Amino acid sequence: MSKRIVLVGFSGAGKSTLAKIIAKHFNFSVRDTDKILEEKYKISVFDIFNKYGESVFRELEYNNLKEMLQQENVVIATGGGTPCIFDAMKLINDSAFSIYIKMSAKSLVHRLLHAKVARPLTKNKTEEDIQVYVTELLALREPVYSQAHLTVKGENFKFSDIISSCIADTFFSKENHSAIRQG
Ligand code: S3P
Repeated sequence: MSKRIVLVGFSGAGKSTLAKIIAKHFNFSVRDTDKILEEKYKISVFDIFNKYGESVFRELEYNNLKEMLQQENVVIATGGGTPCIFDAMKLINDSAFSIYIKMSAKSLVHRLLHAKVARPLTKNKTEEDIQVYVTELLALREPVYSQAHLTVKGENFKFSDIISSCIADTFFSKENHSAIRQG
């Protein structure tokens, strides 16, 4: 039984937004792996990529995830690559209820092109480059994301179904029952 919910999925799938809504519903804290890293090291994810490269970022991201999986009564929005580092998806599944927000490459490209915040992995790319990048990387990551306990369609999920599934797994334990906001 888990006391934490972890959202996985590609960049732009809406993990942070959904994490906030689920956390509010359960009266849990919301955690964003990228934000936590940025606060901890006082540097943006963008700058970690630029100054130290992707492999350093992944190492920090992995260690950060392990620490976050110790916390209770939290909803964690992961970075798009987080579950794909080493055995991260197994760690997530062993200690949390995981939800994959699945979106088509077409929707993701659209959302990434219109995102307010640029992602390091899509910066300086043309629309065509982004299409190729998303399609190829999504195909590689999909088998990992799909190991999540629950998969929901990012384009049209029913929030009540997500909450029911969270509760089914995450009606955690009797002592945690009071953490669930009633009504
Ligand atoms: C990444 C996704 C980003 C961030 C970093 C790497 C990825 O997070 O962790 O830029 O590898 O897909 P979001 O999924 O929140 O964009």
